[in-house]
Amino acid sequence: MQDLTETIRKRYNRIAPMYNSMDTMIKPTWREELLRDAKGKVLEVGVGTGANLSHYPPGLEIVGIDFSPRMLAYAQEQILSLPSNIQLQQMDAQHLEFPNDSFDTVVATCVFCSVPDPIQGLREIHRVLKPTGHLLMIEHMLSDNPVLALALHILNPVTVRISGANVNRKTIQNLQSAGFHIADIKMLAFKDIVRRIDAVPHL
Ligand SMILES: C[S@@+](CC[C@H](N)C(=O)[O-])C[C@H]1O[C@@H](n2cnc3c(N)ncnc32)[C@H](O)[C@@H]1O
Repeated sequence: MQDLTETIRKRYNRIAPMYNSMDTMIKPTWREELLRDAKGKVLEVGVGTGANLSHYPPGLEIVGIDFSPRMLAYAQEQILSLPSNIQLQQMDAQHLEFPNDSFDTVVATCVFCSVPDPIQGLREIHRVLKPTGHLLMIEHMLSDNPVLALALHILNPVTVRISGANVNRKTIQNLQSAGFHIADIKMLAFKDIVRRIDAVPHL
């Protein structure tokens, strides 16, 4: 798993300069709507080049982590012009360096397609999220439609090779395996492939 993590990290380092022009999947309005629900102390996992950062409501304390230093460098540039209280750290989502119950909200957008061991990453989020907290996500995942699912399975080796992103992750099942409950879910695009999720550690 260590080797795979290093390979994916290198892929994101390589695509970092092009990332913003490639990033057309998540509409800015989806980011805004998702982040409206962020509260208190927020951890953003896989903050990337910082595409979400200008969409947070004011008054939050935000920590953004990513394992790619080159993606983080672009996020660092962004925060210079933002008023919010934002700190960035290089860190692997699979080994979060925070104590248990540290955050009110965790945010992840388009991240769990590429975390090498998604269940381990989600377990770590479950650990650092307060029992009353919310995990807010926008993720693309395997469709429940068998024809679309077959197409995504066939496409997957290509997308992993190009960008490190899997298009056939079973993210809802992965969340449940990590101990989360689905409080709310909305299909955003491509039938049920792109979804907005509100997951909670306890119902
Ligand atoms: C597709 S980009 C999305 C970036 C940003 N969240 C957005 O919405 O534009 C995925 C990001 O997740 C990061 N990432 C993937 N696996 C990670 C891990 N194990 N730990 C930390 N960051 C990770 C990548 O470096 C990359 O910046």
